[in-house]
Amino acid sequence: MEKYVIRGGKKLSGEVVISGAKNAVVAILPATILSDEPCIVENLPNISDVTIILQILSEMGAKVRMINKTTVEIDPRTLQNVPVPYEKAKLMRASSYFLGTLLGRFHEAHVSMPGGCNLGDRPIDQHLKCFAALGATYNIDGGMVNLTADTLIGNQIFFDKNSVGATINGIMAATKADGLTIIENAAKEPHVVDLANFLNSMGADIIGAGTDVIKIRGVKSLHGTTYSVIPDQIEAGTFMTVAAATRSNILIRNVIPKHLEPITRKLVKIGVQVEQYDDAVRVIGGEDYTGTTVKTQPHPGFPTDMQPQMAAVLTCSKGASMVTESIFDNRFRYVDELRRMGANISVEGRVAVIEGVERLKGAPVKATDLRAGAALIVAALSAEGVTEIYDIFHVERGYENMEEKLRALGADIRKVDEPDPVAAEHTARKAI
Ligand code: UD1
Repeated sequence: MEKYVIRGGKKLSGEVVISGAKNAVVAILPATILSDEPCIVENLPNISDVTIILQILSEMGAKVRMINKTTVEIDPRTLQNVPVPYEKAKLMRASSYFLGTLLGRFHEAHVSMPGGCNLGDRPIDQHLKCFAALGATYNIDGGMVNLTADTLIGNQIFFDKNSVGATINGIMAATKADGLTIIENAAKEPHVVDLANFLNSMGADIIGAGTDVIKIRGVKSLHGTTYSVIPDQIEAGTFMTVAAATRSNILIRNVIPKHLEPITRKLVKIGVQVEQYDDAVRVIGGEDYTGTTVKTQPHPGFPTDMQPQMAAVLTCSKGASMVTESIFDNRFRYVDELRRMGANISVEGRVAVIEGVERLKGAPVKATDLRAGAALIVAALSAEGVTEIYDIFHVERGYENMEEKLRALGADIRKVDEPDPVAAEHTARKAI
């Protein structure tokens, strides 16, 4: 069982290069299924979600060839329409993208209900509403989502919820449908735009991605492409909070500063200095920060995926802060862990009230999900003493070489492999 051991309190310095965006690449890789020719995807982050999607594609019969560490070629022509099983689908939310892409290519899809971070109820009703509007019928049987359609025909779809996943699935299913599909109340996140740009680079006809209304005119076929994934907004934002929490000066490279603006605005408001360049931001931590209010919103609002990391910074800001989560029901599971480190946080429903303390203290803690794990890293780097973070597989789903990138900035962080204490105790008891 791997854990991070972090000795906090060190000032960091230097620069870090941000990897390709997890939430874009997990849509782009399944979308290659729609192509009639091989596709080359560049700026691939080395994270476990990518490994799993490449395994799924390969097991379905696609030819997957790593050209170098960050570039993959996928030839989907030999791919068969086999079910995406529970063992893989349970590992991430993005497995749902196989629904839209297989439906688009084969007019049939069988994918186990998606897993991913436990952030409360995560239904797929809007995905199914969209597939049905395009002409598919569906049923859920034994945890498997089954879709079939004789033909897919463009339609007008209004999402009742602003959903990244349903928007992406809608785009993928409509790309090769007959006629025009209009998606209203579409998600505007950068990864939605990146997926649309990727499909357009293969000959799709998608306009409006990044606005509330996306129009997709179906095309008969898609050709191959070479496409570079956008930089990860949330990895960049996480390093911005690392710089803020450790009162450090860090240059964060390979970013799109526009995507970071909601995070930049909040950090500047509490007293952090942020300098923007063409494809980099420099974050200079201050000595004292003031508390603030944060409310998560769909893009271009403050991203829910940055809420835990921002809360970690606010644990040591002067006065009270109020953090409101408006996307997910259950995104405060990390709070108990921060409390172990001395944070003063109370949670009432979807609102957390943070009373700033002087300093956090290292403690053993557990990553309860991906961004919760990131928040604990931010907290641990600024805390006094040693923090051990367990269940770091969550972090490795979405952050490439986190500990190496932090060590290069001067952080005292090690990844340690140790036997699971519960299993070890069990073995010891049996031996007695
Ligand atoms: C994506 C991101 C995740 C991010 C989230 C919100 C990926 C792989 N994951 O997740 O990192 O935290 O967007 O920015 O890109 N909902 C429904 N019915 C549906 C679909 C969603 O009620 O059919 C609800 C969800 O429960 C949630 C809200 O809509 O309350 C937003 O969810 P959604 O945008 O779909 O998130 P994901 O695509 O799962």
